Amino acid sequence: MVKGIDPKRVPAHVAIVMDGNGRWARQRGLPRVDGHAAGEDALFDTVEGALALGLGWLTVFAFSTENWRRPLDEVRFLMDFNEGILVRHRDDLHARGVRMRFMGRRAGRVPRRVLRRMEETEALTRRNRGMTLTIAFNYGGRAEIVDAARSLAAEVAAGRLEPDRIDEARVRRALYAPDMPDPDLVIRTSGESRISNFLLWEAAYSELFFTDVLWPDFRRDHLFEAVRDFQRRERRFGAIR
Ligand code: IPE
Ligand code: IPE
Ligand code: MG
Repeated sequence: MVKGIDPKRVPAHVAIVMDGNGRWARQRGLPRVDGHAAGEDALFDTVEGALALGLGWLTVFAFSTENWRRPLDEVRFLMDFNEGILVRHRDDLHARGVRMRFMGRRAGRVPRRVLRRMEETEALTRRNRGMTLTIAFNYGGRAEIVDAARSLAAEVAAGRLEPDRIDEARVRRALYAPDMPDPDLVIRTSGESRISNFLLWEAAYSELFFTDVLWPDFRRDHLFEAVRDFQRRERRFGAIR
């Protein structure tokens, strides 16, 4: 029970663009990577809040397909840092029944060591029935749709699928996480009002919540504030009431 939140109308899935680490560090005269490091406490406090709310699904954007454009040092830091996060937190999350998954391109530039750690973490927590924590890593919404188009094209070429039978449900099944419900609420920190290639298909009807808080300062109370705001909205999905 969280004050001011109706437990019957908690979103099934909240997704977060964790942004503003570099600016947080700059404000303190620190290197950008210190901002990423400070984001770890923000993430795990938010996870605590999500568990307290009884969220079924929490998805966080940790590294985009466009983040490879950053300086090599920062990219390297982010690879090691994200691997370290898994090592530091997975046993605790596992003990608490959290299922951890990753969405994004596995092939390509992600170091093999990091991929292995991701696979181990998924295998370890696969049977958990608590919240699903999905980390979008080397994830791009356009890349996801391209990958889905490729797999559908392969089915067609193999004679297993008629083009006319491709509908929205079939496209969804070709996405990275077909069993994941669409996010009801997408939060972005740091005052930027854009999607930046996050969950393009899945967020078609998501409620968007933008906050000026920089990611390293984000805590469970900010999550609760976003959910309270969400509960005041009327979702219409193109229809009228
Ligand atoms: C978000 O913080 C983390 C990643 C994109 C990996 P940024 O690093 O984008 O921080 P700003 O936006 O430069 O402040
Ligand atoms: C989005 O943030 C990606 C992640 C949070 C991982 P960016 O900082 O990369 O987005 P832009 O460049 O400001 O759009
Ligand atoms: Mg940013």
